[in-house]
Amino acid sequence: MSAVDAGGADAGTARILEATPEAISEAADLLKQGRLVAFPTETVYGLGAAANQPAAVKRLFETKGRPADHPVIVHLGDASWLSAWAAEPPYAARQLAEAFWPGPLTLVLRRAEGVPDEVTGGAHTVGLRMPDHPVALALLRSFGNAVAAPSANRFGRISPTRAEHVAFDLGTDVDLILDGGPCQVGVESTIIDLSSGTPRLLRPGGVPLEAVEQLLGTRVGSAMDSTRDDAPRAPGTLPSHYAPSTITVAVPRATLADVAQVDDAVLAFGSDPTQGRATIVLPGDAVAAARGLYDALRRLDAAAATRILIEIPPDEPQWRTVRDRIFRAAAVR
Ligand code: TXA
Ligand code: MG
Repeated sequence: MSAVDAGGADAGTARILEATPEAISEAADLLKQGRLVAFPTETVYGLGAAANQPAAVKRLFETKGRPADHPVIVHLGDASWLSAWAAEPPYAARQLAEAFWPGPLTLVLRRAEGVPDEVTGGAHTVGLRMPDHPVALALLRSFGNAVAAPSANRFGRISPTRAEHVAFDLGTDVDLILDGGPCQVGVESTIIDLSSGTPRLLRPGGVPLEAVEQLLGTRVGSAMDSTRDDAPRAPGTLPSHYAPSTITVAVPRATLADVAQVDDAVLAFGSDPTQGRATIVLPGDAVAAARGLYDALRRLDAAAATRILIEIPPDEPQWRTVRDRIFRAAAVR
């Protein structure tokens, strides 16, 4: 199936380069010129712009179709860059950065003076992370400054975990796509807000919440409540995100076989509970399932099914992030 048939951008002319040292150095030059570069991280592909160039960040928001008051994560090439972007980071921030950077953890901190409003959406805080991917780190260091990068998809859609996904979504709207192969984590970073007295989880992600709590020696409160499948899900109350275009329904494993119709696309975990009706079966291990989740959602979305049915994985800590993304993909839109 061609990209255009499935409603993506015109992928034919997107510029994708294998992430060689030459391509990375060209990408760094493009960033210096205020252009947009998509690059791999360990979580998902990012759409990067020079974080210190407000006009470049503005273009980033326009390309993504993202509301201007929605802040973007600033990517650092080294933990020592943190002090240029955050004002008096608390001890907990140093501890977490030391333990989890480079890695899939974003820290929301009070912003340093001079951090552009375009980056923070006008907020007094800034989200910072150091990605654990050789291409991302080489790009950041070659550019020599921080890179603002949301996931390289259109706003509200499924995040890209392969260079082809970026090309499909953004086509020629991005100046260069660095291809570093499939992302190893496959879901976005965990976001912890440390800007007020008590740490709060803003988004579950690649670093388990329990690992953060263990390091800080304290419970981390949650600002989201979407991992409870017994919670009422009235229309419009769940923020829709990571969403396929096809109507998507989250279904308990026990009823998947009853609910599935012939023209549904079905995603299951571990094994197929529907006697052969599952379209894709991802591994029953939560880390491996997260790695394949977005690619699977994209394939199911391209299958021209009436609905996408997704099995709800167990209500256990290791499934927190996958469950969160499933509930958002299936939120009533
Ligand atoms: O894994 C990731 O974090 C990926 C890769 C590319 O690094 N990036 C990513 O960015 O997921 P994005 O823009 O798709 O999601 C950023 C999230 C948003 O939910 C935004 O609200 C939150 O981070 N965020 C960023 N800065 C923030 C701030 N100052 N305060 C609160 N939330 C913030
Ligand atoms: Mg995103």
